[in-house]
Amino acid sequence: MKTTIQSVKGTRDFYPLEMAQRQWLYRMIREVSEEHGYQEWEGPIIEAIGLYSAKSSDELVKKQAFVFNDRGGSEIVLRPELTPSFARMVAQKQQELVYPLRWWQFGPFWRYETPQKGRTREFFQWNIDMIGINHPAVDAELIAVAAAFFKKVGLTPQQVQIRVNNRRLMNNVLAEMGIADSIRAETTRLIDRRDKLTPDQWRQNVFELGVTSSQHEQLMGVLCDHDLWKKSDELVATFDVLDAMGVKEYVSYDPTIIRGLDYYTGTVFEAYDVVEKGRALLGGGRYDNLLAAVGGDPLSAIGFAMGDVGISLVLGRYGLLPQQPPYPAKVLVTVFDEQRITSSHKLSAEIRRAGINATCYPEAAKLPKQLKYADRVGVKVVLIQGPDEEENGFVAIKNLATHEQVSVRVNLVIETIKRMLAEA
Ligand code: HAM
Repeated sequence: MKTTIQSVKGTRDFYPLEMAQRQWLYRMIREVSEEHGYQEWEGPIIEAIGLYSAKSSDELVKKQAFVFNDRGGSEIVLRPELTPSFARMVAQKQQELVYPLRWWQFGPFWRYETPQKGRTREFFQWNIDMIGINHPAVDAELIAVAAAFFKKVGLTPQQVQIRVNNRRLMNNVLAEMGIADSIRAETTRLIDRRDKLTPDQWRQNVFELGVTSSQHEQLMGVLCDHDLWKKSDELVATFDVLDAMGVKEYVSYDPTIIRGLDYYTGTVFEAYDVVEKGRALLGGGRYDNLLAAVGGDPLSAIGFAMGDVGISLVLGRYGLLPQQPPYPAKVLVTVFDEQRITSSHKLSAEIRRAGINATCYPEAAKLPKQLKYADRVGVKVVLIQGPDEEENGFVAIKNLATHEQVSVRVNLVIETIKRMLAEA
């Protein structure tokens, strides 16, 4: 028995249908990003490990990154996220760039996670960030971009919600409870990991940190308080702008949103599938210190990233993804017999020169086989030139959508194809 070599765990194969869906997603992302004035950019796929050790998260760097030594002995990482590269590239040209800087990107990333629904080891991310201005209206703009994307792809606020919180607010609330500065960052990390632990495990972890039982009780109250945002001037202003932009129905306040990455300092947000609860569809927030951490001058930024895996599952469930891989050629020139291979190729080249995507059947197979192929791949128009047509200077043209078939003079072929394609 033949054995097929298996693909690497956690990777996906993009057959033309999946590729068409990925390209469609890329187009939607491009349109939303450009509608809001963001410029496309890209960073390298491999980076030095030190870039992530500077900030990011311990879990991401130590447990999830694909790390290898290159032949020179340097420790190299397959990028697990883009934000550190973004900070590095801005820092490198900090004096030359024009601020505020609005940049977006779509590309591949790798994380050594346990593959599960919505999570793979190789995935694509849409990253979008603004750097240079620290203002609640900017926070609102990035959240509004996410909402505009959902709207554009046909997802409603009943299907997806962007949940917002603020790290400064949470830090103040923890301080008010008397939770010591030295354990606040770790407490915040535990809040983020709450859904990964059982309630008992979580309580135990919190107590081990040094949080008292009365503080724990207050904390539980805070994590259910959906009016907590009113204590944050930043969030009040952000929600006001979101309201004015007409996207507030996509957004809600959630005191449990913290984000796992260490570099966030202010407003943070994540989007979720409302119907089928699971991991976040996108996540982001404001980060004030990353640029300085990678050697630049301090500059505040905010942005988010959305993976293609989770969002594609949701879009698929609502029938919002393209279902048919497009066949690029609109016209197929058949090959009547072996002697006519060259003339068929000549004809298809002439059609392409007229700006119409055309392909020639690659061998002189039986005509019904060629027609069936045309039908199956979705070609719109088929050309046939047998000995009779050739002798009289004619070509038979078949419109597969309407079943119309005409025989026209060679000089009228392009015009006829154009008419048929317009009708198809
Ligand atoms: P993140 O929360 O680590 O944030 O990832 C953002 C999104 O990437 C997730 O919400 C998810 O959609 C997708 N994602 C992450 N890991 C996987 C995986 N293993 N499989 C499938 N999808 C995945 C960041 O990466 C930040 N750098 C975002 C950011 C940009 N913050 C500011 N600017």
